[in-house]
Amino acid sequence: MIYLNIMNKIIIISMIVTISSLNFANNLALPCYGCHVKNDKSYNSTIPAIEGLDEKYIVNAMEEYKNKLRDNYLMQIISNGYSKEQIKSLANFFSKQKN
Ligand code: HEC
Repeated sequence: MIYLNIMNKIIIISMIVTISSLNFANNLALPCYGCHVKNDKSYNSTIPAIEGLDEKYIVNAMEEYKNKLRDNYLMQIISNGYSKEQIKSLANFFSKQKN
């Protein structure tokens, strides 16, 4: 069930990535919303909300996933797809969103 959930998300994300590369090439944050939904209490999930987190905390977490210092298979793959500069812009974007 959890596996299916993740597969569904990966499919949705691939669709989002395709659409976003066509329409919103600069919107790096769009794929993140495939998993990190707005802080909706009815959403039964182990995925933490990332909006409103401290900018440095997000950069740090992403670098740790990227360097495999922080354990999470999905986030390790995802963080690998972003450059240092892109991670900075993502962190800046999410830190400014209201949780
Ligand atoms: C396929 C689903 C998925 C996608 C897409 C995804 N994440 Fe995550 N993310 C997770 C999960 C699951 C965790 C919790 C991992 C853990 O327990 O360490 C997580 C954790 C995080 C954390 C740590 C939060 C904390 O409270 O410590 C950050 C930061 C983060 N993600 C940022 C991002 C960003 C930025 C993107 C878009 C580039 C993104 N994630 C896309 C699933 C996803």
